[in-house]
Amino acid sequence: MKKLLLLLSSLLVGMHCFAGGILSGPWVADVREDRLTVVWTTAEPSTAFVELKDGTTLWETFAGRRVFGRLHKVRITGLTPGEVLHYRVGGIPVVDDTNPRDPTFGDPFASPWHSTRTFDSAKGTCRFSVFNDIHMRTEQFAALAGQVDSSATDFLFLNGDIVTAANYTLDSLVHNAIDPLGSLPAGIPLLFARGNHEGRGNNVQLVADVFPNEDPAPFYYSFREGPVACLVLDGGETHTKRSTVYSGAKVYETYLQEQYEWAEKALQESAFREAPVKVCLIHVPMIDPEGKQGFYIQRWLHKRFLPLLNEAGIDLMISADLHEFLFYEPGTMNNAFPILVNDDLRRLDFTYGDGTALIRTFNAKGEQEFEYRFQP
Ligand SMILES: [Fe+2]
Repeated sequence: MKKLLLLLSSLLVGMHCFAGGILSGPWVADVREDRLTVVWTTAEPSTAFVELKDGTTLWETFAGRRVFGRLHKVRITGLTPGEVLHYRVGGIPVVDDTNPRDPTFGDPFASPWHSTRTFDSAKGTCRFSVFNDIHMRTEQFAALAGQVDSSATDFLFLNGDIVTAANYTLDSLVHNAIDPLGSLPAGIPLLFARGNHEGRGNNVQLVADVFPNEDPAPFYYSFREGPVACLVLDGGETHTKRSTVYSGAKVYETYLQEQYEWAEKALQESAFREAPVKVCLIHVPMIDPEGKQGFYIQRWLHKRFLPLLNEAGIDLMISADLHEFLFYEPGTMNNAFPILVNDDLRRLDFTYGDGTALIRTFNAKGEQEFEYRFQP
């Protein structure tokens, strides 16, 4: 029976590819008030475009020409805050490009229509869902995502270790990190913080391609949605021993110092400074508890980065990595704000409105496990 189901599902996937050419997505990334990037993959190399409801077609290009590939990204700029975009993605498969003067193309294809929206700092409320440390357990990931109220959620945030250290390929990365979200990220912006596992193996640049973010760097950035300003940081590799394998802890320290110098300025930008709520999202928690001396970067962040965030008036840190739920009230870890370490395979829902922030966490069965209210 299982074999029959597998055969049927692979036939369906095959038909889908044949009929549509689109393998995964689209998902909407790199969202700000004035831009967003639509990303998707195709089963075969193809040209790619985003078509807007007003008839505009935006082709995927590089250096002035259309390109063929399987991972597609179209960045749309010049948008306005809260602008709604009705779009679909499509392409034309390349059947044979051995003759570069006259490649052969197949039939054009397109996805169904989707709607998405840019961020808008003038909005009075903000709600988002965070996932972390899924480690390729796609069934539980899909269950957690299936509980998201799509009509009331402003963005989805993957806080690292969605995959596990491996020499992953494009298809396995997208299958594990994007597909379990279903159609949610075609409409709800999807943002990402790198986990230590996404930094291992041979394909860290592929992670940046799947979760594009151009400014100021692939894995650290800030954005604002409604009253909430978010500072996203990349904690890199956590353990001294494993750091050495890839570049050495000293290189990570240089990289973290680069983020520190950028954050000093980003925290002072008016959209951030004046936001009613300031949240730091980072996979590695900035804590230094007893008995965790091997967590070199975690301790480095606690000692070197936390004072800057205290001073900037951060209201909350949402982190991950440890596969256990920890909650540090202000003042318990040299922290001026609560630091929450979300358990693995849990969804954290953050809501802010009317001066009150609400944090709740849920397991894959949809059972609420934690609730905390505070006035930022
Ligand atoms: Fe993890």
